[in-house]
Amino acid sequence: MKKIVSIIGARPQFIKHEPLKHFIEKSFKEITIHTGQHYDKNMSDVFFNEMDIKKPEYNINVGSGSHSTQTNKMMIGIEEILIKEEPDMIIVYGDTNSTLAGAITAKKLKMRLSHIEAGMRSFNMRMPEEINRIITDRLSDINFVPSRHALDNLKNEGMNGILCGDIMYDAFKYYSKKAEGNILDNIVKGIKSNEYILMTLHRVSNTIPENLEIILNRLNKIGKEIIFPIHPRTLKIIKSGLKSNNQFNNIELIEPVGYIDMITLMKNSLCIITDSGGLQKEAYYAEKKCFTVRGETEWPETMMYNANILCPNAECDFITEINNTANVKFKNPYGDGNSAEIITKYLMEYLYDN
Ligand code: UD1
Ligand code: UDP
Repeated sequence: MKKIVSIIGARPQFIKHEPLKHFIEKSFKEITIHTGQHYDKNMSDVFFNEMDIKKPEYNINVGSGSHSTQTNKMMIGIEEILIKEEPDMIIVYGDTNSTLAGAITAKKLKMRLSHIEAGMRSFNMRMPEEINRIITDRLSDINFVPSRHALDNLKNEGMNGILCGDIMYDAFKYYSKKAEGNILDNIVKGIKSNEYILMTLHRVSNTIPENLEIILNRLNKIGKEIIFPIHPRTLKIIKSGLKSNNQFNNIELIEPVGYIDMITLMKNSLCIITDSGGLQKEAYYAEKKCFTVRGETEWPETMMYNANILCPNAECDFITEINNTANVKFKNPYGDGNSAEIITKYLMEYLYDN
């Protein structure tokens, strides 16, 4: 049986890996490496505990650090495991430092590499993720792309890809069923369906203290309750002290939640404010209007029909926009939620014929 090693390490990768692992395991021996990029219980363990996958076979436990230190430590750990396991294919997901470390290590060992969620571009080289994407796409033997737009991005750079839809839609569909019957009040006491905004914020550019301060001040003035499962990066910035003594009375900080609770929070929200890549799409799948606190998006399809509005620095007339549902439509361009099956079938043909 051919062997596949999957490399994951950050929250969105646990969610992307879950549906694919199920399919891959039917036809291949699958081994998972967790780099340890995310390590808090509610950034890592919670997903393995609530989702239907077993814990990774390896955890390199790299923890946090500067980009180079973190990537370097990951590469050392990954190299040792890949030499031992001798896989026929390595899979990496998305655009984190774990993706980059996996991709470079695989190719330096002359091993075959697949990139899931390839072809994404923000055309903003100040984003660490943009660097990771470009390098990983360039190194990969197979680039699995979620949309035609992503395929065009690759073609414009002289590459090609396999259109398979969005793997996160597989996860979203499956875990939406599991979230049925989940009680909102058990997640945040006292919140009511359709009376709050769900928010996440963690991008480097938005967590520079001066920027974060401006954003939170603006959002606090919307006058709606905002539920904010806060990423540890953002919490550290708030705790280390913002300049003003402003109280953000309308913003309720809660710990990061597991995926099932997150789906419940999305589906019951009035709308979503985020700078997350994954959550922009999930807002679309949940048919909630999304306000993206960035100047650009890698998911431009979500902007059609007013479903996703870009609000750099949260400069946006939220109240008018929230109530403006007239032209909002949600037409999913990211496949049917069967990406895992498409990817596995492709890998079967590729690996057993090569
Ligand atoms: C990373 C990804 C980003 C992705 C995000 C998903 C890169 C370059 N960025 O950003 O693309 O959107 O994950 O959530 O890989 N921390 C903890 N506990 C943890 C994890 C992190 O306290 O379990 C804190 C540490 O102070 C750390 C900081 O968060 O320095 C940032 O973590 P890191 O993994 O470097 O980047 P993210 O911002 O999470
Ligand atoms: N998510 C979650 N709990 C949270 C916040 C986010 O389960 O408290 C999920 C979210 O629904 C999405 C994924 O994590 O599926 C997105 O991850 P994140 O925003 O950290 O990374 P990005 O998508 O920006 O790379």
